[in-house]
Amino acid sequence: MNVSTFTRKQKFGYILGLLGLTALLLFTRTFPFILLAAIPATVAALLIMRRKLLRKLTKSRIMQVAYAELIEPITQERTRIVGTDDNGRPIERRETVVVGHKRRDIPLVEHIDPCYIDLQKYIARKANPLVMICGRSGMGKSELMKMLLLNLNGPKIIFSFKPNDAYLSLPYEVIDISSHIPDPFQHADDFATAYALTFPANLRGIMLSQVRAITKTLARDSKDWNHFRRNLDRIEKKATDIQTEAIALIKEQIENLAVGEGSFSIDLARNTVLDFSRLDESAKTFYAEVALRKIWNLMTGINAISTQQTKAHTEKATIVIDEVHRLTQLYDLDARSILDTIMRQVRQFGKLYAATQNYSDINDKFRNQFGTQLTFNTTSEQDLEAIRKIDPSYVWIVKELYLYEFIDLTFHVGNIGLVPIFQADLSEIPQSEKVQNAEPMNIITANSTTTKAITPALRPKKIIAYEAIIKDKIEEEPIWISGIANYFSDNYGVDKDTAKLKVKDILQKLVNADELQRMKFDMVSGETVVLYFRKSDNDENESPFHRWMIRQAIENCDDASVIHTATSGEALPDIELSNCYVECETSLKKRTDDLEQRVRKFGSIKPMIILVPNSDLKETYQRLASDRVLVTTLKDFKQSIRSKARP
Ligand SMILES: Nc1ncnc2c1ncn2[C@@H]1O[C@H](COP(=O)(O)OP(=O)(O)OP(=O)(O)O)[C@@H](O)[C@H]1O
Ligand SMILES: [Mg+2]
Repeated sequence: MNVSTFTRKQKFGYILGLLGLTALLLFTRTFPFILLAAIPATVAALLIMRRKLLRKLTKSRIMQVAYAELIEPITQERTRIVGTDDNGRPIERRETVVVGHKRRDIPLVEHIDPCYIDLQKYIARKANPLVMICGRSGMGKSELMKMLLLNLNGPKIIFSFKPNDAYLSLPYEVIDISSHIPDPFQHADDFATAYALTFPANLRGIMLSQVRAITKTLARDSKDWNHFRRNLDRIEKKATDIQTEAIALIKEQIENLAVGEGSFSIDLARNTVLDFSRLDESAKTFYAEVALRKIWNLMTGINAISTQQTKAHTEKATIVIDEVHRLTQLYDLDARSILDTIMRQVRQFGKLYAATQNYSDINDKFRNQFGTQLTFNTTSEQDLEAIRKIDPSYVWIVKELYLYEFIDLTFHVGNIGLVPIFQADLSEIPQSEKVQNAEPMNIITANSTTTKAITPALRPKKIIAYEAIIKDKIEEEPIWISGIANYFSDNYGVDKDTAKLKVKDILQKLVNADELQRMKFDMVSGETVVLYFRKSDNDENESPFHRWMIRQAIENCDDASVIHTATSGEALPDIELSNCYVECETSLKKRTDDLEQRVRKFGSIKPMIILVPNSDLKETYQRLASDRVLVTTLKDFKQSIRSKARP
């Protein structure tokens, strides 16, 4: 791939030069020169419209937006004799010559005038058609994958796990897996492996062999979940102690999996999104593995029972798996997804594209098989460590990438030492493909050849994946029971009280599992609720609750009065308003010495408001209060600002 180094500065330089030349030619006021002026004027106009023109001319929606330079020239000052003077003495000139190249200590990243590149053509030249996309949530993995798929020939089968995922807006058929369950009882091996992948904890300790052996035997002897349960009861009677323990565990675990009878089928010749979002977390992994095994069997011709199915692999299909770590996290243990086989043999039958949040989520050996490894910005230490093994310079580049920018970690740098930095251009998606259908476009029924659009109201009743939806919502911001129960009632038509009970149970479970924290909060409406929010990740230096409090504070003061908001880690108060400072205290931290320090330092410059979650906590901070420092809750926040505004 040719790496562009054409910067905006250069472009504007050329444009200015060309316009200058045009003006000069016009200034001559002589006929042929005036005519000639059209040439630089046209070139300047073309340069101004460069991006628009390129967009029209190329099919691709992926741009190169920057490049990183990894090597720099080694120069030497030399003296050269360029002639002799009148007295015959040699004239010397000192000049700088490039005598070699060396690695830069810190790569140089330069943004360029964006140009469109055909990433598919580039991928096609790679050693294999395996593509991996890594990046934290919201970095643009799914959007990038969509762009790649839109430029790719052949049918695509997409595994999508999130509600309202970007893939659901593609003009493809959507199969809602919660109503079209892949039958796990067709192959006992498939069942046992999918089961092991789903409940990784079983793989440790003494349970391992027991659970695996029992599930495999029972899957062979059962034709559906009821049958499986009856068989479990039957063997329980003769079980040893350790087996009884394993059986009790299996009984508990299958409750999340037994969500219906198998009715899944797929036509590999069509573009299809398999929507797993309505299943519980464990069922998502379990049925993804079962479905993947069925699809692979169809692709390779194993179990092909009709000509329709054998014909399917005349055109190679692309399997796309979002959140691929679901299936690969136990690679080191003895639970290997069928992906392992697919990776090695896919070239013959089609392509495999995968996405995951962390580069290090995927085992080294597994990851190295991907011929293309597209990565967004990451600050995770484990990811950076894995990237360092490829090239230490990449660590620096990856940390420097802006939002939505990505690089290919397998890019062949060559002698020029340039690494292109890419970004998907979303502005260019035709209206019909934009995320306007947050809901699946179509739902196909098993074995149907025609697709009929079903409006949400007419949809068959769905299993509501409460836990998955709650986790998704909480990823965005803190929630409270009545608020989220209203959401379920409005969007899924469930009774509000039923939703409340369900939500309460799940939140309690997540708090017990130490996944969530909670805090009483006086809302602006005057209502006091218990807020549930996730704990901060290791690589986050600000808690999601703190971020949310700052947002609430900003939304509830006069926007125009916000002068500055501190980015995390800055030694400034969280918000500076025209008439006072605001400190948002979550009171999650026991220590308050940094707050005290800030009150001392900034309280003398402007009055200060300390915003705390609830009125009980006001007491805790009251000792910091003075005529310049006010402790308050969001309920009284506006009034507090007004009181501080008084001269
Ligand atoms: N190249 C882009 N240009 C502008 N906006 C973008 C771009 N890519 C993504 N976005 C915006 O970011 C949002 C999140 O993107 P996307 O769903 O692709 O993230 P993700 O990395 O797949 O996150 P997750 O891991 O949570 O699925 C999109 O809805 C879109 O609004
Ligand atoms: Mg995504």
